Amino acid sequence: MDKFVIQGGNPLNGTIATSGAKNSALPVLAAALLTAEPVILHRIPRVRDIRTMERLLVDIGSEVVEDGETVTIRTSKIVSPEAPYELVKTMRASSLVLGPLAARAGRARVSIPGGCAIGARPIDLHLQGLTKLGATVSQEHGYVEAVAPGRLRGGHIFFDRITVTGTEDILMAAVLAEGETVISNAAREPEVVDLAELLVKMGARIEGAGTSVIRVQGVEELHGAEHQIIADRIEAGTFVIGGAMTGGDLTVTECVAEHLGALIDKLSAAGVKVSVIDATTIRVEPGGTILPVDMTTEEYPGFATDLQAQYMALMTQADGISIITETIFENRFMHAQELRRMGANIRIDGRKAILAGRSNLTGAEVIASDLRASASLVLAALVAKGQTVIDRVYHIDRGYERIVEKLSGVGARISRVE
Ligand code: EPU
Repeated sequence: MDKFVIQGGNPLNGTIATSGAKNSALPVLAAALLTAEPVILHRIPRVRDIRTMERLLVDIGSEVVEDGETVTIRTSKIVSPEAPYELVKTMRASSLVLGPLAARAGRARVSIPGGCAIGARPIDLHLQGLTKLGATVSQEHGYVEAVAPGRLRGGHIFFDRITVTGTEDILMAAVLAEGETVISNAAREPEVVDLAELLVKMGARIEGAGTSVIRVQGVEELHGAEHQIIADRIEAGTFVIGGAMTGGDLTVTECVAEHLGALIDKLSAAGVKVSVIDATTIRVEPGGTILPVDMTTEEYPGFATDLQAQYMALMTQADGISIITETIFENRFMHAQELRRMGANIRIDGRKAILAGRSNLTGAEVIASDLRASASLVLAALVAKGQTVIDRVYHIDRGYERIVEKLSGVGARISRVE
């Protein structure tokens, strides 16, 4: 298993570019199942979760051709409308094929995801949505099956709580359903908007993506399309926090600054010198003391849960007490134990983490527990005294493209060892 070895103490200086968004790439790849014609996708990040999704598409019957960051998918025929346990257990987003398969093939069988490092993460809302669209959903042997002989029919879906992939899954099912579908309390994440843009290019009729109410007029068939996905706001945010923590002069390019509003506000409140240079560029400059600022995770446009762990690493360097509240997932503080091993002063009380800074972090051997937790350990290691060894970095490889190369390029002393 690969590890990262990081020597702390160097500021991040220079320019670092953002890759395409993993969490956009996953649903748009699944959307390619909705048509027999080729779908050409640009800026697909070369990360492990994407390879997993591509493998799943091939199993289902797609022809997938990669050319750098461009991926072309052609699904002339659905051969096996199924997401097996082997893939779902490594990537929960596999459940994104439920909607497209039910819509295109009239049948979808997907392994039920088990618990994961950040919480229970059920898919009950996806299934309720499909039922509303006329599918019959049953469960056996650890799999759910949604069957819809003939076409799905439009319906009104009200999500009890906001779900990102649930919204995406139902949107993909609704575009081929007969009649109108209204999705209320829909997720407003930029990745939902990106998916809707691709679907519209494929011939879907969608209004309201990016708001809490999405209306879809179902069409009989979709066609091929070409689409470039948006920048990864979580990767960009991770770099911005890295610049702030290390006191560097770091310019993050090729991102969408507008998608990072909540983070930029918090950093400004914390006294970080952060500025939006233009729509796609954010710069952090060396500043003074980092102030403690409380933060609560929320759905978009609130502060992303996917940046909570990285923000926690930053707050270990703040001068005073801060409280971080995680409202999206019930168990997303695994990084706190590891940060503590590096010298951070963090107490967990239910969904709150109480930090007392500023901690003088020192390098240690730590274990990555999930994707964003790994990112927070990398950030902490960049300011820690001495050497940190991070084990199980396969978690970070799920979602950060060429992270060692990118961070080395701006002055970090980081290497990968087997
Ligand atoms: N939930 C349910 N039932 C459902 C669906 C969700 O109870 O049927 C609950 C979840 O357990 C959670 C909350 O609703 O407590 C929100 O979960 P959501 O469905 O929005 O999460 P997700 O769609 O599974 C996506 C991202 C996550 C990100 C969350 C929240 C993708 C592929 N994944 O997950 O990204 O944390 O939204 O923004 O888009 C990551 O990239 O590291 C990551 C975990």
